Amino acid sequence: MKTEQLYEGKAKKVFMTEDPEQLIVSYKDDATAFNGLKKGTIAGKGVINNRMSNLLMQLLEKAGVPTHFIEELSERETLVKRVSIVPLEVIIRNYSAGSFAKRYGVVEGIRFDEPTIEFSYKNDDLGDPLMNSYHALALKLATKEEIETIKRYAFLVNETLSKFWLECGVILIDFKLEFGRLSDGTIVLADEISPDTCRLWDEKTHEKLDKDRFRRDMGGVEDAYSEVMKRLMENI
Ligand code: TMP
Repeated sequence: MKTEQLYEGKAKKVFMTEDPEQLIVSYKDDATAFNGLKKGTIAGKGVINNRMSNLLMQLLEKAGVPTHFIEELSERETLVKRVSIVPLEVIIRNYSAGSFAKRYGVVEGIRFDEPTIEFSYKNDDLGDPLMNSYHALALKLATKEEIETIKRYAFLVNETLSKFWLECGVILIDFKLEFGRLSDGTIVLADEISPDTCRLWDEKTHEKLDKDRFRRDMGGVEDAYSEVMKRLMENI
């Protein structure tokens, strides 16, 4: 089914198929942080992220968010709809953490009354700079209508996943989404939803169950990914 490799990213490889509208994504155990400056491996991560992302995307489809997901092919491989990625990283935050806490000089873990949304320009050479929707429009990264659709879907993703993770005893602190355009222009959720792209804290202890353990050399990275996957499987 797989034909030639189209692209290799930091955490995934993408292959062509015989169908020009479909691609195969293959999840690696490789992990990077700080725009590729820090490199490592998280054993078994590819298997967990593939499964988790696929299950969450199916949950989101049911909630009314169209996604690129078609079919899980194996432990690490998934058939997805081919999209052209909108070069925006869409970040939703429910609690202060990470770059937000640093930028505004606040501690992590402050609960917001309303979720926030922000965009980064997906551009490794520039270090994914923060931008607002006017900047995205000025640079023609997306149309006004596309940005409205992306915002609507992103908040719907947040509502759906925050509720689901709480049922697992996990707080969805923040996360990053990427959207793509199908060949007819339809906007769909793409990329992945996993502990690589979400901050997930244990509801009671606030223990970090995500990639921050790798970013911050906290240890217990594999165990955290397994724990969060176990809780997902018990509640999906
Ligand atoms: P930040 O606090 O570092 O801006 O991260 C916000 C969220 O986005 C967090 O859940 C981790 C995720 N994220 C990615 O998925 N990829 C990235 O390159 C970065 C910087 C953050």
